[in-house]
Amino acid sequence: MTTPPPERHPESRTVHPPAAEVTGSRPLGVPIHQGHVFAFDDPDALAAAFTDPAGAFLYGRMGNPTVRTLERAVADLEGGAAALAAASGMGAINSVLLALLRSGDHVIAQRSLYGGTMAMLGDLAARWGVQVTHVGGDSAEEVRQALRPNTRLLYLETISNPMTRVSDLPALTAVAREAGVLSVVDNTFATPLLCRPLDHGADIVVHSATKYLGGHSDVLGGVAVFASAELHAKVWHHASELGASADPFTAWLTLRGMQTLALRVRRHCDSALALATRLAAHPAVAAVHYPGLPQHPDHALAGRLLDGGHGGMLAFEHVGGRAAGHAFAGAVRLAALAPSLGGVHTLVMHPASTSHRQLDDEQLRAAGIGAGTIRVTVGIEHPDDLWADLDQALAEAG
Ligand SMILES: Cc1ncc(COP(=O)(O)O)c(C=O)c1O
Repeated sequence: MTTPPPERHPESRTVHPPAAEVTGSRPLGVPIHQGHVFAFDDPDALAAAFTDPAGAFLYGRMGNPTVRTLERAVADLEGGAAALAAASGMGAINSVLLALLRSGDHVIAQRSLYGGTMAMLGDLAARWGVQVTHVGGDSAEEVRQALRPNTRLLYLETISNPMTRVSDLPALTAVAREAGVLSVVDNTFATPLLCRPLDHGADIVVHSATKYLGGHSDVLGGVAVFASAELHAKVWHHASELGASADPFTAWLTLRGMQTLALRVRRHCDSALALATRLAAHPAVAAVHYPGLPQHPDHALAGRLLDGGHGGMLAFEHVGGRAAGHAFAGAVRLAALAPSLGGVHTLVMHPASTSHRQLDDEQLRAAGIGAGTIRVTVGIEHPDDLWADLDQALAEAG
């Protein structure tokens, strides 16, 4: 196994991930190892493989050469000791939560988490007696106040969905560390190209690889990266029981997508800033939420935490409220009306008429979302074509 020299930039590391040596030559594309059962000559070596996550391959649910190449590549980019690839982002998140929590434990979680994570925490609370306190992502004091003797995890997202608030990772994880509480950060929106949460005090980073890592809306996957081999081993044992492991084709597609991650992220960031700036000047737009804009509440924090851009996600408020937001979502022509994010295609969503349709205007406001909020995941199309599309959809929505 060769690992890239530490002085190499992330742009080079994505193209040259740690690679398995093959005698005499080295395939530039990672091979797909479809085999899931591995034979041993020595019974003691087989016994050892059951307990060593970095050891010999044994059975596909516990490890596979292609999957391990993906794990090493993401651990390398995030600066972690080891990683665990899963069948989806939720597979990675659940592997971490179920491995580290037991009933009666307390979790401090950011208020504006991805809906699936929120639902999972709600389920853990209702069915397994895990206590959950929600906090904003900006106040270390609020986290300090929320601490209890049984607090086990602090759970944050680097950039939140859909209002793009940026978490003060160094301040919040410092409070957790002081209290002996593990910090888990979902870094899906930022990617390791813009932020490496382990460098800011996190113990575990999770990703929906379905999004920017894969990048082409054709793979469903997840990865959890660990600051220490001990933490990785603990979660690995539970994850192999849970059975949410990534399969080799998922790993291969994700690795293939990751080779262009740096180029895509740069383009996503540049185009999102260009669109956010133009949206902010449009009379049908009441507000734009993008950390790259000076008026964003976390602009200064984003400048300290995010390196090289502010991400490809933005949201804006249509002045016409719910009806206009709904009409806008149906009026886009180049962008697609679709869930998910982080791929090469630009997608829009109107939460009030889709993912959050069960909430009235007041409940939406409590969730931090406006009735006319539109979420945009900015793809890599030409920004002028994207603007022409958003502009015509704004005109049509009235
Ligand atoms: C921030 C974030 N984390 C996790 C997930 C879950 O990922 P997956 O759909 O791959 O299970 C998503 C999905 O949208 C997400 O946006």
